[in-house]
Amino acid sequence: MTEATLHPQWWHRSTIYQIYPRSFADSNGDGIGDIPGIISKLEYLRTLGIEVIWLSPIYASPMDDNGYDISNYQDIAPEFGTLADFDRLVAEANSRGIGIVLDLVVNHTSDEHPWFIEAHKSVDNPYRDFYIWRKPAEDGGPPNGLASSFGGPAWSLDPESGEYYLHLFSRRQPDLNWENPKVRAEIYKMMNWWLKRGISGFRMDVIDYIGKQIDQSVITDGAHLHDYLQEMNRETFGSRNVLTVGETWSATPGSALLYSGRDRGELSMVFQFEHVTQQWDEVYGKWRSRPFDLVKLKSVLSKWQYALSDDGWNSLFWGNHDLPRAVSKYGDVKGFPVESAKMLATILHLLKGTPFIYQGEEIGMTNAPFSKIEQYRDIETLNMHRLHLEAGLAPEEFIKGANENGRDNARTPMQWTSEANAGFTAGIPWIEVNDNYTTINAERAITDEHSIWNHYRRLIALRKEHSVIVYGRYQSYLDQHPDVFAYTRTLDDKRLVVLANFSARSISVDLPNELQVTGRCLINHYGPVDQLQGCIELRPYEAFAVLADAD
Ligand code: GLC
Ligand code: CA
Repeated sequence: MTEATLHPQWWHRSTIYQIYPRSFADSNGDGIGDIPGIISKLEYLRTLGIEVIWLSPIYASPMDDNGYDISNYQDIAPEFGTLADFDRLVAEANSRGIGIVLDLVVNHTSDEHPWFIEAHKSVDNPYRDFYIWRKPAEDGGPPNGLASSFGGPAWSLDPESGEYYLHLFSRRQPDLNWENPKVRAEIYKMMNWWLKRGISGFRMDVIDYIGKQIDQSVITDGAHLHDYLQEMNRETFGSRNVLTVGETWSATPGSALLYSGRDRGELSMVFQFEHVTQQWDEVYGKWRSRPFDLVKLKSVLSKWQYALSDDGWNSLFWGNHDLPRAVSKYGDVKGFPVESAKMLATILHLLKGTPFIYQGEEIGMTNAPFSKIEQYRDIETLNMHRLHLEAGLAPEEFIKGANENGRDNARTPMQWTSEANAGFTAGIPWIEVNDNYTTINAERAITDEHSIWNHYRRLIALRKEHSVIVYGRYQSYLDQHPDVFAYTRTLDDKRLVVLANFSARSISVDLPNELQVTGRCLINHYGPVDQLQGCIELRPYEAFAVLADAD
């Protein structure tokens, strides 16, 4: 494969930064992050090398699910700012070479969206068919056994009409009826309105749900899913040079090629979660986790690298606002917080795909140390707490699960400084700040040449500089090794060798021939390595990459 055949896109070389606005930076002391707060941190992101920001929802919302329940798609939640603030954000970001990607939450709305308020009025209201209504089952209960992701049935009764409406998330997030062409037309209109405001793309919330066929209990990969995405592409962003990424928990390598294949006219890429869910318990899901297994993790990541090597495109991420902190989940917060965070960054950012950084990951922020359910804010955690306790799980066991995998781990305020409330707010934060902010904070990280932050900055810069990182063919080695992650990336006469020790011990490893190279060390965090021969010793959580000299 040569560079000419690679079909380059601008977002192949970019690194994306996800902002959870509520927890990023509060400009007015009400304890809630906001758009002016984000604007005040654009310089921070530019210095890091970020070219795209994905903003979790900033739209008008009753905030039942922190904005993933939208009551007006064409306005900003007052606690986050105004449309004028948003326009200023886009302009200020663009002037620094940064694009703004919005979260598109169109599987459902809020129950306070005017469409739902209308739909709710009567069975013959013109908006009734914007949502999904069914008659009760014979016993008067829900039409079928579908469950909400946040616990309990996915159906709620509307007592007036005697019908149930569908909500695959909370009762306050009714599902839109994508089979109705009027719904689709309204959504496309709204998307075009934002595109004209100058945004650089969309992250599409649970987009694998929109083709659902409720009467067959089919949620993901419904018969018309890809038709809708192709239609959306044609009607909205297809003619523009923007980035789109679908959130698809159900994606397989096969379906990812449908979503992101270059001639499919759908999306730029999807988020797949196999590397996340393979660690969950079969019965309790993420509320009871399994011991970490590197061989499995490698096999999942490699499978996706191979499957999308010639067509489609991978997204690369360890964390987001729904997942635990990367270093807490995969690293070693107690023994080697800095080394393991850098190792994780190295491994991920040198894979093929577009890397995403979740706010705070670049300074090694860790899970929330909450010990009481009262400290949690997330609707999913609170609902699941109630349901699992009712079902007999011990309260301490639930808190342990929430400490490991709950969504609030990622939602504690961004740690900017060592001042009160980590410099996030002058008021009382909506959720407690992690008390390790006196050591883990951005101010300190920027000035320390050896910080996790500076390691991320180097990795982001390397991707812009080296085509082999962007397009090189992936090959894994030592697949069965329980502690070492090893792979190469090859493009024309360039070969990059990446090696990492995923453990807290020093490991001696016999290198296969293909990894024995001499060259230039592009990134390291224990000191440069430029000769790889025979048996080498990797120190705890050491990771580095060597660009081989052409032979
Ligand atoms: C997605 C979002 C999550 C939200 C859910 C419902 O999974 O990432 O935060 O709760 O969809 O919109
Ligand atoms: Ca605020």
